[in-house]
Amino acid sequence: MRTETPQPIRLSDYRPPAYLIDTVHLTFDLAPNTTRVKARLTIRRNGDHAEPLVLNGEKLKPISVAIDGRELAEAERTIDAEVLTIPNPPAAFELATEVEIDPENNKALDGLYMSGGRFCTQCEAEGFRKITWFADRPDVLARYTVRIEAPKSFQRLLSNGNLMEAGDLPGGRHFAVWNDPFPKPCYLFALVAGELDELVDSLVTMSGRTIDLRIYVDPGMADRATYAMDALKRSMKWDEEAFGREYDLDLFMIVAVRDFNFGAMENKGLNIFNASLLLADPATATDLDYERIESVVAHEYFHNWTGDRITCRDWFQLCLKEGLTVFRDQSFSADMRGEAVQRIKDVKALRARQFAEDQGPLAHPVRPSSYLKIDNFYTATIYEKGAEVIRMLRTLIGPELFRKGMDLYFDRWDGHATTVEEFIRCFAEVSGQDLSDFFAWYEQAGTPRLDLKHAYDAAARTLTLELSQKIDPTPGQPDKRPLPTPVRVGLLDAEGRTLAFQRDGQAMDETVVVLKDAKASVTLTDVDQAPVVSALRGFSAPVVMTTDAAPKDRYVQLAGDPDLFNRWEAGQDLARDLILARAAGKPDEVGEERYAHAVQRALADQAADPAFKALLLALPSESDLALARQPADPAAIHAARDALRQRLSLHLDEDLKRLHIGLQGLGDFSPDAASAGRRALRNAALDLLAANPRSEIAELADGHYRAALNMTDAMGGLSALMQIGGEAFEAALADFFDRWKSEPLVIDKWFALQARDPADSALGRVLGLTAHPAFDQKNPNRLRALVSTFAGFNPARFHDPSGAGYRFLADQILAVDGFNPMTAARLVEPLGGWRRYTPELGALMKAQLQRIVEAPGLSKNVYELASKALA
Ligand code: ARG
Ligand code: ZN
Repeated sequence: MRTETPQPIRLSDYRPPAYLIDTVHLTFDLAPNTTRVKARLTIRRNGDHAEPLVLNGEKLKPISVAIDGRELAEAERTIDAEVLTIPNPPAAFELATEVEIDPENNKALDGLYMSGGRFCTQCEAEGFRKITWFADRPDVLARYTVRIEAPKSFQRLLSNGNLMEAGDLPGGRHFAVWNDPFPKPCYLFALVAGELDELVDSLVTMSGRTIDLRIYVDPGMADRATYAMDALKRSMKWDEEAFGREYDLDLFMIVAVRDFNFGAMENKGLNIFNASLLLADPATATDLDYERIESVVAHEYFHNWTGDRITCRDWFQLCLKEGLTVFRDQSFSADMRGEAVQRIKDVKALRARQFAEDQGPLAHPVRPSSYLKIDNFYTATIYEKGAEVIRMLRTLIGPELFRKGMDLYFDRWDGHATTVEEFIRCFAEVSGQDLSDFFAWYEQAGTPRLDLKHAYDAAARTLTLELSQKIDPTPGQPDKRPLPTPVRVGLLDAEGRTLAFQRDGQAMDETVVVLKDAKASVTLTDVDQAPVVSALRGFSAPVVMTTDAAPKDRYVQLAGDPDLFNRWEAGQDLARDLILARAAGKPDEVGEERYAHAVQRALADQAADPAFKALLLALPSESDLALARQPADPAAIHAARDALRQRLSLHLDEDLKRLHIGLQGLGDFSPDAASAGRRALRNAALDLLAANPRSEIAELADGHYRAALNMTDAMGGLSALMQIGGEAFEAALADFFDRWKSEPLVIDKWFALQARDPADSALGRVLGLTAHPAFDQKNPNRLRALVSTFAGFNPARFHDPSGAGYRFLADQILAVDGFNPMTAARLVEPLGGWRRYTPELGALMKAQLQRIVEAPGLSKNVYELASKALA
């Protein structure tokens, strides 16, 4: 048990910094266990006060502290485990400090650490304080000059900005000096040193400047950075065209590292990436990997303006940069890969991660008001819901005014740290709209429940829509206000053709109804016949919607809603209801047949994009289904979903086999969206065939695996074999390991695949894999491949009635917490849903959370999430 309860940090306690730091000179003398860091900071008092100077610093071995060249006596300063305090410093002065740190033993991967024998950094959110004493808060912006000295075996010496000087030193050593002319908060500082190969390219910007582009990777891997480089150049052009944003330094660098707690990091001019989100070639990366690389390269690049040039005043404003930058990368991906398919994928991810979070004990607003560890708030709510809020803003004021508001924001706040209020103020100003009610989307947690009822009056030719919203209580927020919610609506006739109508005397095909209060009613006129209502098109708001539509309306939509999102959604709604009925012991066999038939017709649509069809073939995930009806029984859901898959498989047998043959790849691999879409559909067809295993399908899957010329198809074959199980699967699994054992990113896939195996025997296999020589808790990618995949994507086995799945997760959390609290904390979430499950399962989950909270020496990170999950 903890002896003291950690105290939360609150937004309402925000105070401007007592001292500002204008320039920073750092000198690194790199050595794995004994790196020396000298800092010279020019500091000035901010305002008129007598407060001490308090600088953050953790795990630093003090060597010296001097003011204006004079070493301070012990009595003139205090140093504890978290801060350096200097009472009564002058109004303006230079502080010179020296510390020693041990990057080699830094397994938290926060601050300066070593990965694969190279030095690298991760400073967001509060890692810089593990490098030197500093005001480690995002509203202290300084200009940095960084000198790095190291043995020449650390070949490349990189930091932010421009290279000013480099050369040799005596004793087989060398140095480099970097200067970043743009003031930045310390969380954007980066340093990398080590042996790396380089992929070089360049790009001419909109104003005609040539930018030097360099991607650094493990020796021998430069070829695998070509796709990331291509994505980078497309991102840079896109940001010029879509937002008028030009790159500002002469050099842009990206480094890939193997050991990284997150996806990637937007350090100024020197992005650092988890290698899994940067390296790709057809043999080792799947289409999904390519897709994620494209979007994350874009995301980190876009941060140069939304994050770096304009940053956050405090960490409560995290969504200011993250939600906005996700919105920007989603818009980019939509332009690269097709709007509808991108939107469906984004909404699937939102539902799977954010909706679950928002409906459980860890629910928090897009802008939280308190935290223990900010690292726990890099959540789906801040990122994905944060992006949805911006999308709604754009829908509400329209694309032109949205762009104007962005321009004003860039103009007004460039070079500053600011807040969400100031961001929204820009849009209120350019649109003349009062957005104060809209701001509640940032402050209120919870997924709104929207209900839509419709009534057609044939005599009057009018359609009345009755909308209402309700938001359930979330932790700390028992009462909710209504949120202004844009609902995009169109009408279809019985054949699925667009039905025009009038609203306020204006003829139109589509309209946006804004639900401002708890209830609203809208009447559309000139409606020729009883329509099918296609509502919440493009998922215009992050809500759970219920309607009074009959299944026949959904079938009309599935066959031909011109809004492709809703066409897909109609299929998902039908499938969900059928699966839930079956899980509740009331299977609707007639409905299931009808559904299979409708999917068959949708598949036959020659005009539809293969990527879209692949999405149509996938049933709602087990975790989405578990959210839809509570208490959830994962075993019943799994069985019912499998049964519907089997029926589809039988019904579509011929069609699926035809697709499988017809879409066979010819010629060279290309990662473009159209080729990826064809592979996705072919693999989805195989996947569904495998739901009804017969010897011919086992052979088909085996042949698919063995004939694969790229990783997408190899994984497609292997997962189909996994569903079928038996000898062929075991043989392929062994073959795969053997073939790829020297490729860590591929071996991650090998672990993740087995973690997703729904077979009865899989839990035992997963437990056994922790003893596999290739398993490594200290590498976050490997840990997540096995543990997060199992807990998050294998509900049938994670929720084993014995509780062994939960115990396994808790064991891993406690072990990892001993050296990497941030990554351990990110494993807690699957236990947080304990109230949503059947009482027997819920009690077993809760018991593991209790065990975690009571463990001695627990980190604040894990404590915060586990204790909130229990509350
Ligand atoms: N800012 C990074 C991004 O682009 C993520 C940093 C994650 N840091 C953390 N402490 N969780 O998304
Ligand atoms: Zn980001």
